[in-house]
Amino acid sequence: MTDSPTHEPTGSPTSERTSVSERIDLAALPHDFLWGTATSAYQIEGAVAEDGRSPSIWDTFSHTPGKTDNGDHGDMACDHYHRWREDVSLMKALGTNAYRLSVAWPRVVPGGDGAVNAKGLAFYDELIDGLLEAGITPSVTLYHWDLPQALQDRGGWPERETAEHFAAYASVVAERLGDRVTHWTTLNEPLCSAWIGHLEGKMAPGLTDLTAAVRASYHLLLGHGMAAQAIRAACPDAEVGIVNNLSTVHAASDRPEDTAAARRMDGHTNRWWLDPVHGRGFPADMREVYGVELPERAGDLATIAQPLDWLGLNYYFPATVADDPSGPAPYARSVRRLGVPRTGMDWEIDADGIETLLLRLTNEYGARRLYVTENGSSYPDVVRPDGTVDDPERQDYLVGHLAACASAARKGAPLAGYFAWSLLDNFEWAYGYDKRFGLVHVDYRSQVRTIKGTGHAYADIVRSHRGRASRAA
Ligand code: GCO
Repeated sequence: MTDSPTHEPTGSPTSERTSVSERIDLAALPHDFLWGTATSAYQIEGAVAEDGRSPSIWDTFSHTPGKTDNGDHGDMACDHYHRWREDVSLMKALGTNAYRLSVAWPRVVPGGDGAVNAKGLAFYDELIDGLLEAGITPSVTLYHWDLPQALQDRGGWPERETAEHFAAYASVVAERLGDRVTHWTTLNEPLCSAWIGHLEGKMAPGLTDLTAAVRASYHLLLGHGMAAQAIRAACPDAEVGIVNNLSTVHAASDRPEDTAAARRMDGHTNRWWLDPVHGRGFPADMREVYGVELPERAGDLATIAQPLDWLGLNYYFPATVADDPSGPAPYARSVRRLGVPRTGMDWEIDADGIETLLLRLTNEYGARRLYVTENGSSYPDVVRPDGTVDDPERQDYLVGHLAACASAARKGAPLAGYFAWSLLDNFEWAYGYDKRFGLVHVDYRSQVRTIKGTGHAYADIVRSHRGRASRAA
């Protein structure tokens, strides 16, 4: 959480680097493990008005005064739209063999439905070719929160037509890229779209309306199911998954009220998103807590429960909650635990949580294949006079969480890959550019990229695993 001027510069001695990978039980990870990094379109691309892209709800939200820190927005971001070749080279320099990106719906179908924008599709087409040439497997997410504003103007996710338009857009992208991309994600973190965007108002579209939020959650999951069908129709060997951000949830005390609050928060954060896609329907206890009628039609639950090839877990921090009858749904308030380490986001650090969740997805939901699709930490990095970025706290976070992932794999979790969040420092939504999650530092004025100490450590870990895998082959 500090700039830590006392630490040694990056490019640390080999012995120290060896010990980093030794903290992780690399032998527990499969030989063909995907070592990746992740980003999303609005957070890195910039070029928001170029080549026919239309505004998304995040353009609108970030340009609304008071919605983001410093009034930051994604107009330029990391200028990845123009600098993607350099960014692919960085992935190569890190030794990664996979990359999780998202396609911007407003680039491909600017109106939300209807006409397809050839230039928008061409951008992703070229990027995919560039990745494949570099030996990097692309993992494509179709929705990372950038709904075309035109659809928001017609009601957005609370309306059923948005799910239908999402499936049509998914089909366009899968038809174009499906000859080269097999790894597909329908939605990234629908929880954030529904709960943070429609209930808490802290993300686009910025509503605070429980009915709209519950309806949005329903149509997001319906859209997921419809899009999964559309992707498979266009690309028969597609491997389709969904990415959720889950948390371990603890009760603040033994009081029955707090235990019940923890159960509600688990429903709100985890079960509401996992149960329906696993054919269990929407959890009855949470339906009662929300008290909002679902816009259900015959057949929807089966559509939502399309068989999945894999599940993606985004994990950052655990939750500790107490009963809060007068607060917003789910009537559970987060309690700050004292004396525990935190990242620069003020998020509690708990590596055991990622192991617990991987094992829960394995044992409770019968996951056949798992990926950690995001995990990482933000600290206020600085480029030192010698041109290096030393970020020992982030490196500890990475190594601790990778060790916990390997431990889950050792205990039977079918973990097939890990995608560090993020390749680059980028537009951290309502927190703007001050929060830096990258393995690579970005100077937003010059757009100069610098691999941080953690990036070098990640490269060493990947190399160690690969060396072990080729020796075993
Ligand atoms: C999310 C998103 C990412 C974030 C990352 C750090 O979880 O919010 O998937 O876009 O940038 O998680 O907050």
